[in-house]
Amino acid sequence: MARRRMIYEGKAKILYEGPEPDTLIQYFKDDATAFDATKKATIEGKGVLNNRLSEHFMSGLNAIGVPTHFIRRINMREQLIRMVEMIPLEVVVRNYAAGSLSKRLGIPEGQQLPRPVIEFYYKDDALHDPLVTEEHVVAFNWASQQDIDDMIALALRVNDFLSGMFLGVGIRLVDFKIEIGRIYDGDFQRLIVADEISPDSCRLWDIETGRKLDKDVFRHDLGDLADAYTEVAKRLGVMPKSQSRTHSGPKLVN
Ligand code: TMP
Ligand code: ASP
Repeated sequence: MARRRMIYEGKAKILYEGPEPDTLIQYFKDDATAFDATKKATIEGKGVLNNRLSEHFMSGLNAIGVPTHFIRRINMREQLIRMVEMIPLEVVVRNYAAGSLSKRLGIPEGQQLPRPVIEFYYKDDALHDPLVTEEHVVAFNWASQQDIDDMIALALRVNDFLSGMFLGVGIRLVDFKIEIGRIYDGDFQRLIVADEISPDSCRLWDIETGRKLDKDVFRHDLGDLADAYTEVAKRLGVMPKSQSRTHSGPKLVN
């Protein structure tokens, strides 16, 4: 097979040239990083799980009319996606206080917020992805005021969809991060959900026990990360409930 051209390599994924114009292939690695990649590990099976979970969330969003870059899964580690022009922001939605919000504002972890709170972070590793205001976003031309309104609307729809989906399987969606891209269709342009949605970029707490089922397990050494992600996949029906993980990696449905 001819080697595909690599377009970009990130911490957890690689992008390759796609088979058709305006498409890319997104490959999910087993690598995990935290705290600006000062903490690193390879977690067998993580890429396979995140490929399937991101497919599950993105195809669900597509089905309810929330546009995403996801086209179809190709194999265990790869999916076909639409090429987009990335907005250089991380859009975080918070339903309960945790992480940097609790630290910055002294709100106890786990406290329900009066409404979903949206934050923008500027994607720049050297600057440690700083929190920015809408003023910064517009003044420095990272996105327009209209884009901000569209990103907020998109993020709230994603939040409602994911919160409901997780609630149905006994998981609280505490917060999550999405990234958004721009697509052009002649003179027409619009914003769509891009990158990935997976337990790498969410906080997921078991409603009954409070068990953490997301990347905080890796960040704070709380147990086996692949076990936590496998539990999420099983509950969502992405993986048979009866199957336990083996050392040859997670077995996924279909
Ligand atoms: P934070 O509390 O550390 O700001 O994180 C908020 C949410 O965003 C949490 O679900 C984890 C996610 N997140 C990422 O996906 N990537 C990042 O680089 C950071 C800092 C957070
Ligand atoms: N910022 C990401 C995290 O902690 C990953 C990294 O910093 O390497 O979730």
